[in-house]
Amino acid sequence: MKIRPSIKGVVARSAHPAGCKQAILNQIEAVKTASNSTPKSDLPKRVLILGGSSGFGLASRIALSFGNAEADTISVSFERGPSEKGVGTAGWYNNIYFKELAEQQGRIATNIVGDAFSADIRARVLQAIQEQFDGKVDLIIYSLATGVRPKPDGELWRSAIKPIGESLHGASIEFETDSWVEHTLEPATSEEIESTRRVMGGEDWQEWIDTLINADAIASNARSIAFSYIGPESTHAIYHQGTLGRAKVDLHQASHAVNLKLAPFGGSAYAAVCKALVTKASVFIPTFAPYVISLYRAMKELGVHETPIEQMIRLYQDKLYPEAIVDGERLIRVDDFELSEQVQARVSEIMPNLTADNFMQLGDYLGFKQEFMQLNGFELAGVDYEQEFTLEELAKLTP
Ligand code: NAI
Repeated sequence: MKIRPSIKGVVARSAHPAGCKQAILNQIEAVKTASNSTPKSDLPKRVLILGGSSGFGLASRIALSFGNAEADTISVSFERGPSEKGVGTAGWYNNIYFKELAEQQGRIATNIVGDAFSADIRARVLQAIQEQFDGKVDLIIYSLATGVRPKPDGELWRSAIKPIGESLHGASIEFETDSWVEHTLEPATSEEIESTRRVMGGEDWQEWIDTLINADAIASNARSIAFSYIGPESTHAIYHQGTLGRAKVDLHQASHAVNLKLAPFGGSAYAAVCKALVTKASVFIPTFAPYVISLYRAMKELGVHETPIEQMIRLYQDKLYPEAIVDGERLIRVDDFELSEQVQARVSEIMPNLTADNFMQLGDYLGFKQEFMQLNGFELAGVDYEQEFTLEELAKLTP
């Protein structure tokens, strides 16, 4: 069979294995051509990534393995392989090809696929740290993005991406039909606010750090980082002042708690505020797409657009090592280009004029959609999309 794109709403139902490999090769190339000034001795060698199969987690893994750090990595992710239902997820193939390419360079690249919230996966991670990393980690990257987290009683907390206090009218964009859909979001209930905090806040990050401390798996000077978003005023109703923003404030507070937990090891922890980007997770945020397509257009026009790999190269080289550079709230800011006056002035010229009829011309919808397709291995130069695959052959590839 030939593998073709299949999209339902904003969810990719197929992924192209060779395209996923190409996307990783492109990111490796970006790392190799970036200026690499921080010496290896100042960078982490043994890195644990929670959520390392796509988005910022995968970009972190590539930046640290293929940059000056030459890091070994253990990554946890929740991905699906090929079955009668389909070819599997992009993250499945990202795991496979990252490992192949990193091992060719002599790096350790261990993939643990399963639910990061479960006791079983925690135990497997500790075992891998013991076996592959001589028992210690130098950097823990918390990059999970999910809609659910199990409660201790086995029920689930479910996040709800909603405004708080007032309803919000806005537009979302569906990739499946290239359509602009206006809708009104009702404000979250207090239960939804709390559930979203439980799923996307900092509680699980702290629990992971406790697990690692209790297993004596923290190296001296170890650091930890988790990712956040704040955004400009125009997005605050759906993000910063909505349920997601509440969860991120919780994550920022958790960064101080994790920082204290790591202090006895000479370590530290931070939340890094990143720019808005197309990832598997971010396309789910309702009413956010008009801002992102305006932002993409503005940042490309001004020559400052970044993809996850460029954000992560800058984070590890310029902002986290050798010394962390933080703002007044102890946040690392990699959203500086996004929030610059010039970029935001251009966004505010574009965004208010977007409509169902012109969003493809006025905003960078085509660039936005292309990045989404590329996340799933499609629309990449140098890939033979006529190549034939069989499920049996794909099933032989293991992460
Ligand atoms: P993503 O969807 O690309 O990656 C999420 C990762 O989490 C994947 O590796 C996935 O397999 C893993 N995962 C999800 N549930 C899991 C589970 N139960 N067990 C194990 N692994 C699981 O998401 P993205 O966008 O890279 O998000 C990472 C973080 O970055 C999130 O905290 C997000 O809020 C933050 N962020 C994202 C921005 C964006 O524009 N995409 C902007 C700023 C921050």
